[in-house]
Amino acid sequence: VIAAGIAVLLVLLSLPSWLPAVVVAARMRIFARINGDEAISVPGELVDVSLFRRLYEHPAANGRSRGAALSDLFWYWLSPGPHVHQEHIEPGPRYDEVARTTRHILASGQARAERLAAECAQRVLTGLGSQRVSAVRLRDLMMPIWAEFYFELVFHERCPDYARTLIVDNADDVATALKCCGLRHLDRRERLTRFLLSKIELGEVPHRLPAGLSVPDQAFYLQGAFFNTAVVQSSEAMAHLLMALAGHEDVQARLAAGHDADYLDRVMEESLRRYPLFGVAHRITSADIEIGEGPVIRRGSVLCFNYPEFHRSGFDHPDRFDPDRWRELSTREANHIPFGVTGNRPCPARALAPIAMRAVVWELIRRFAVFSSASHTRSMPNRGPCLLVRRSDVDGVARPRARLAVMGVRDRWEDVWRSITQLVLGTYMVWDARRRKLCQRYFEDLDNNGAAARKSVH
Ligand code: HEM
Repeated sequence: VIAAGIAVLLVLLSLPSWLPAVVVAARMRIFARINGDEAISVPGELVDVSLFRRLYEHPAANGRSRGAALSDLFWYWLSPGPHVHQEHIEPGPRYDEVARTTRHILASGQARAERLAAECAQRVLTGLGSQRVSAVRLRDLMMPIWAEFYFELVFHERCPDYARTLIVDNADDVATALKCCGLRHLDRRERLTRFLLSKIELGEVPHRLPAGLSVPDQAFYLQGAFFNTAVVQSSEAMAHLLMALAGHEDVQARLAAGHDADYLDRVMEESLRRYPLFGVAHRITSADIEIGEGPVIRRGSVLCFNYPEFHRSGFDHPDRFDPDRWRELSTREANHIPFGVTGNRPCPARALAPIAMRAVVWELIRRFAVFSSASHTRSMPNRGPCLLVRRSDVDGVARPRARLAVMGVRDRWEDVWRSITQLVLGTYMVWDARRRKLCQRYFEDLDNNGAAARKSVH
């Protein structure tokens, strides 16, 4: 009995070292099965890395939603209103109008982005209080900053607390479901939709919204682009950057020692290379494609562009976090597309986001040193556990060793529970999304009834 007890105990104790990896592999197999045989991974057997960009930028690699099983899953995660989420609109006049509006809103904030981001960061960081060490999850710490920032960018007024709560609840729910750490809570998301709808109806949006969209669709559009994508992506990008600094104290010390903007740029590029925000971006081909010597890619194929793999290829020691590699390398010539490819719907915030991020990094680094012993992976389901230690001229910064040791143990055990949760909830959501077929049904409706399909989708 004692031997059996010891054996069970040993298995239990070893769980953190092998179970999460087994569960992640099982989850990947389930997700791969959604794509079925229609998906072509790039780079992959058919198209190697040298043709990655050419294929991504090919004019016929332009379908976004229609005809891919994968789209049902993305529409499910991004509900409500995924049919007007810019990323998922098919090419055509409606897309052009939406994309123009996004560009216009972002451009209107470009000149004041740095100051605005710094002010939002100051307000949120001041809210941490005066204790010497604060335990935070970086994604959670960042979301209110970006909620305030994008609110002010869109509405040209300071973000009230209740709106900030609505935005953070919405963005957190989307990110949590996308990572399969929780189910969707549409009530939280719809509270924000109602708020945005009322702002539009009251005439409180100082931008011209896409005239081709109904008023409810305009609210969904704002929610999708600015209060899902913008807040989630900026928060995740910042959380990765700060986790990378926490894991590389030499890099952090160099940043903290002087306001070296060039070095910060290299650190940001490296963080975006090593931890790209997109795992896979997909396109559906609208015509046969022939590039290089390879076989013809048939019309209607689903191309899955694998960012992490592309970002690893052609670099020395690709898994090493090494900002100084960008001293020699050109971000244009290297296999580096953190904001997508120029010729095929790149990120409209590629100019503004880095400016705002830089301002937030300086605000944080000048107040705090960042430490972590938690794992740092591309999908970051742990939301970036960190200790922020207030910088002091008198005592300097002492490494909080005991608290870091506790954090490390807790993170490994949380990983066990979280990976099982992700497997169960991910499987459920894949099943639920396939059952609802939000994207497929939307296009079927559109084909059958035309405008009648332009109703809310979730
Ligand atoms: C550091 C932060 C960000 C990164 C790394 C990032 C990355 C990307 C990437 C790689 C794509 C292209 C995906 C594809 O080819 O399908 C994309 C598209 C997009 N991003 Fe960002 N993004 C960030 C922040 C933002 C922000 C702040 C906004 C605010 C509006 C935004 C809005 C969008 C939209 C609307 C698209 C779809 C573009 C289209 O299809 O026309 N992103 N982003």
